[in-house]
Amino acid sequence: MAIIEVDGLTKVFNGKVRAVDDISFNVKEGEILGFLGPNGAGKTTTLNMLSTLLRPSSGTAAVNGYDIHEEPDKVRRSIGFVFQDPTLDLELTGKENLNFHGLLYGLDRDLREKRIKEVLDVVQLTDRANDLVKTFSGGMKRRLEIARGLVHHPKVLFLDEPTLGLDPQTRRSIWEHIQRLNQEKNVTIILTTHYTEEADYLCGKILIIDFGKIVALDTSDNLKARLEGDVVSLAFKDPKMILQIRPIFEKKKWLRRMDVTSVGSNQSMAGRMMHMMRGMSGGMGMDGMMSGMRPESGRRNESVRHKGPNIQSVGPRRLNLLVDDGGRRIPEIVKLTNEIGILLESVELHKPTLDDVFLSVTGRNIRDEQGSFMEMIRRHRIMQQARGHRDSG
Ligand SMILES: Nc1ncnc2c1ncn2[C@@H]1O[C@H](COP(=O)(O)OP(=O)(O)OP(=O)(O)O)[C@@H](O)[C@H]1O
Ligand SMILES: [Mg+2]
Repeated sequence: MAIIEVDGLTKVFNGKVRAVDDISFNVKEGEILGFLGPNGAGKTTTLNMLSTLLRPSSGTAAVNGYDIHEEPDKVRRSIGFVFQDPTLDLELTGKENLNFHGLLYGLDRDLREKRIKEVLDVVQLTDRANDLVKTFSGGMKRRLEIARGLVHHPKVLFLDEPTLGLDPQTRRSIWEHIQRLNQEKNVTIILTTHYTEEADYLCGKILIIDFGKIVALDTSDNLKARLEGDVVSLAFKDPKMILQIRPIFEKKKWLRRMDVTSVGSNQSMAGRMMHMMRGMSGGMGMDGMMSGMRPESGRRNESVRHKGPNIQSVGPRRLNLLVDDGGRRIPEIVKLTNEIGILLESVELHKPTLDDVFLSVTGRNIRDEQGSFMEMIRRHRIMQQARGHRDSG
């Protein structure tokens, strides 16, 4: 049974930015659906409309059977929301933050006590409940926010970037909490992320959103299975070499598709940031290289040109070839590059991953430099906030 039904949902900001563009999908009760997309794809805007924080420009949705236009109060009472940007009161204790939330939802004192105990247990923060939140680590704060979203026993929980800016170990521990919540409490969860491994690990279904549109919606396995074959990933020291070799590969019958990716940059973080800033103000060099062979990815060139950094300015490039029987093709691929005097830095063979799926449906790499750059800034801000509060406490 569908617990969320979305029909033609659209949001246009200031009459021109189509942040969410006519999306329709259903979510089954008990499912974890992941919204995977790069910065600015429309993830938060969609969640804000579904939770009635933002009015759609057109289209509608029903959450728990309540229409977002007709019964917004009932929608709000039946959902929990963990915002992308932290909203805890740092000067209160963990328990006080939860208690305040329970009061807002009109829970009486006994029920609040009971629920707070329960949700603290779910996220394993019972022993820190009476400490001020400003003394919590980033991961503990995120867990407390998830706990707060659960105090009123929502049937649906929206998690906007639940692990943004957290270290891999903390990220994994939050994944386990989310999974437990879903399995033990049967909470339906929609989460947004731009980490493919997060979507892969947690989500029964993955919705890929790009420029406000749904470009894929399926299980991770089905999405990967669509890319039949193996990926042979070639790293080049000089991106110009890709221009030379591309036409040669394009003629080969065994090639299913070809994409240029930016993964593998070995520059320092500071160096990359400098390049990014230059690249953002400059044009998009070698734009044609960002697209795949197929016409559908070529269509994206325009958008990439506006949004992306100057790809000439960042690290070594990879050329990903989707081929039949990759192991057998590698000798021929290496021979073809040798024949025109191109030296490869590395050759890798792998089964299609969610990153490859993303690249194939958007023509861009989700780990592109722009995404990393935005995240670096955010992460820096979160760390600064945490440091500032600790110093002042
Ligand atoms: N209040 C607003 N006014 C104008 N434009 C907005 C507003 N909120 C979002 N946008 C624009 O809508 C688009 C989608 O933004 P949204 O925040 O939904 O993206 P997102 O997928 O959540 O990105 P991120 O990964 O960075 O959180 C962006 O182009 C953004 O600039
Ligand atoms: Mg967002």
